[in-house]
Amino acid sequence: MKAIELNNYGGPEQLHLKEVEKPVPGDREVLVAVHAVSVNDWDWGLMKGDFVNRLLNGISKPKRRILGSDIAGRVEAVGKMVTRFKVGDEVYGDLSGTWGGFAEYVCANENALGFKPPGMTFEQAAAIPQAGMLAVQGLIDVGRVKSGDKILINGAGGGVGTFALQILKSYDVSVTVVDTAEKLEMLRALGAVRGIDYRREDFTAGEERYDLILDTKTNRSVFRYLRVLAKGGRYVTVGGSIPRLLQAFVCGPLISLFTSKKVLIVALKANKDLDFMSRLFESGQVVPVIGGPYRLEEVPEAFRIFGRGEHRGKMVIQVRR
Ligand SMILES: NC(=O)c1ccc[n+]([C@@H]2O[C@H](COP(=O)([O-])OP(=O)(O)OC[C@H]3O[C@@H](n4cnc5c(N)ncnc54)[C@H](OP(=O)(O)O)[C@@H]3O)[C@@H](O)[C@H]2O)c1
Repeated sequence: MKAIELNNYGGPEQLHLKEVEKPVPGDREVLVAVHAVSVNDWDWGLMKGDFVNRLLNGISKPKRRILGSDIAGRVEAVGKMVTRFKVGDEVYGDLSGTWGGFAEYVCANENALGFKPPGMTFEQAAAIPQAGMLAVQGLIDVGRVKSGDKILINGAGGGVGTFALQILKSYDVSVTVVDTAEKLEMLRALGAVRGIDYRREDFTAGEERYDLILDTKTNRSVFRYLRVLAKGGRYVTVGGSIPRLLQAFVCGPLISLFTSKKVLIVALKANKDLDFMSRLFESGQVVPVIGGPYRLEEVPEAFRIFGRGEHRGKMVIQVRR
């Protein structure tokens, strides 16, 4: 089968289209014919080989060479202990930890998959798992969003932010978004009432106060965010700069102890809310914002676009029609 392999840690030039062996499912695995796969920030980190990802995937060389976690496709074969799926089922899910999605076929534990609704395209399905779960868990499970909240999403133009904005349609809230100027109109169309171009304005220096901040970038000291949190406000980060995340991790409990504000970090529970997102899609509330789709051989170019931050929503690769 064809797959995009990572030769070594580095940039998109390390990604190459290769002919590799088709995987064989284990007892609890299904073999999925991949129709679409999306690019995540985690794929970018695995490709670059930053410190944390080297601990996960090999210090000097990547052990797993086929990246790609968020897939959608059709079940082609099932292991002998698989109970949930049969050949022909249309599925989607986040395979982070085992990866292998930038390929014509991938094996997945049956627990890492959910049923794709019939009205959802494979490209839409591949866009949802990681970013959709981070948005749901960041806003609802950890952020405890409620009607009346004044919300800010930092880094709103990518996967998490575009899902978060649409999930928030269920609540009576006002949302400010922060991203590049070019993305603000698209974000307003998704429900944002105010847009801030981060190249021109630092929202942490402003006078507005927010009940909930959802951050996909975490590129400032936690005390800058605290400054613009209202009394009782929650700052929720889904990811970003490692030193800044460490600071939030260490200072968060003390801040909660001594102030009315909370600093919280989302630990992704992969695939937990797939059915919830499927229902929001079926009701028409959430429609994934998709960049592309690109073809499998265009994965290195898709990574280049992702690395330059030119994508809107999720970058999707169409592997087969
Ligand atoms: N918590 C967990 O367990 C877990 C698991 C997986 C992933 N993650 C993390 O979750 C996050 C994924 O977010 P995502 O998929 O939405 O990322 P994304 O698609 O890369 O979107 C991020 C957005 O932020 C914008 N941006 C860049 N610099 C900015 C700045 N200084 N201020 C404001 N906005 C800025 C980018 O636009 P431009 O580049 O055009 O400026 C882009 O539109 C990542 O941080 C990832 O590491 C966490």
